[in-house]
Amino acid sequence: MVLKSDYDRNVQNSIVENNLKWILHRNCEVLNSYEELTLKGMKTMVKVNDNYLKLPGSYLFSTIAKKVNAYTEANPDKKIIRLGIGDVTQPLSPAVISALHGAVDEMADAATFRGYAPDLGYEFLRSAIADNDYKARGCQIEADEIFVSDGAKCDSGNIQEIFALDNKIAVCDPVYPVYVDTNVMAGRTGTYDAATEKWSDVIYMPCTADNNFAPQLPKEVPDLIYLCFPNNPTGSTINKAQLQEWVDYANKNSAVIIYDAAYEAYISEADVPHTIYECEGARTCAIELRSFSKNAGFTGVRLGFTVIPKELKVGDVSLHALWARRHGTKYNGAPYIIQRAGEAVYSEAGKRETKELVAYYMKNAAYILDGLKSAGFSVSGGVNAPYIWLKAPNNMTSWEFFDYLLENANVVGTPGSGFGPSGETFFRLTAFGSYENTVEAVDRIKKLSI
Ligand code: MLT
Repeated sequence: MVLKSDYDRNVQNSIVENNLKWILHRNCEVLNSYEELTLKGMKTMVKVNDNYLKLPGSYLFSTIAKKVNAYTEANPDKKIIRLGIGDVTQPLSPAVISALHGAVDEMADAATFRGYAPDLGYEFLRSAIADNDYKARGCQIEADEIFVSDGAKCDSGNIQEIFALDNKIAVCDPVYPVYVDTNVMAGRTGTYDAATEKWSDVIYMPCTADNNFAPQLPKEVPDLIYLCFPNNPTGSTINKAQLQEWVDYANKNSAVIIYDAAYEAYISEADVPHTIYECEGARTCAIELRSFSKNAGFTGVRLGFTVIPKELKVGDVSLHALWARRHGTKYNGAPYIIQRAGEAVYSEAGKRETKELVAYYMKNAAYILDGLKSAGFSVSGGVNAPYIWLKAPNNMTSWEFFDYLLENANVVGTPGSGFGPSGETFFRLTAFGSYENTVEAVDRIKKLSI
């Protein structure tokens, strides 16, 4: 290959390097000039974020959807009951629908039309959240410590961006896959060992039947601790004294807890905390993630929020200020009409209807729990959470049981191993189906000869 001799040597070298692979790919085609390289669009070689290439497989729920679609195509006559992904099935409540209609009408009139929402959320929603979810429980969280978003999935994935790459994360095992996968994408998790299904730089906190699916304080001290209670996927909870231990541990070790409380509306037992800010000292160590998806059925309309108290600092740096900067730069706010719908969840009618929705799904949870217990399954969860966690029978792996259930009962669940290695041989069923489908699914499972 000959490049023009009068062209700057450094640039030539970098062109040669950058395009070597491409040239080889073109069967060593001889290129005679920089202009020719440029003409062929080869001046630079784009590089991808190769952290993405480290991710094993596809996102858990995408894998399940593909498997189920393939089965449905091959068996179009079968009635599949989906109790896999935790997606709600009941309509939005009348108070929410009425607020949506009202807000849509406002958008139709120049006098009440709204454009961009305030980056951090409308004051009316932030105040409703602060008053109802926090002050009413005796927790001092102010409206300006709440950041409204389009859901807890995005927030739980994005929050890691405000922390350095050399922070070490600790996660429950099994765990909601978004926490780990987004840290992999960022390049914080080291290398993946396919044999153990673990990342070298992640601290795993096993949640097994032996510890009632509640993590122990890790011996190696992490920087960031992801906790989710009521837990997805196991449906387990911890009581206030146990959560206080985590808060004390985080404050003592200058760690930050990222507390996912997306399922708090499902708590039925008195001693289970609804928010981490019920614990003393949480304002200096905890970020809380919340969602409108599971309590008010907003999976399709999208609304959530993150709480970062102003006292929460790393050294002198306020995490509240960092997240405000990130949110303001990358996000233009949840839509006005959706934030009005969120506000309606806190109206008297909204609160009553939300309770009814939660009770509807918890009736399903009780049916699954009782039905599977009576059929001899080893089952937990389902009391303070819409998830039931069961042991696959006959020493089946999680995916073997997934296939078995799909083929023999036409019921879809989620393999426990998809949430982490300690989930192997377990299986998750969601209570978010319709009551009729839930009853039919359990009855089909009970009829199986396993
Ligand atoms: C789940 O099934 O674990 C959840 O629905 C997923 C989510 O909330 O993103």
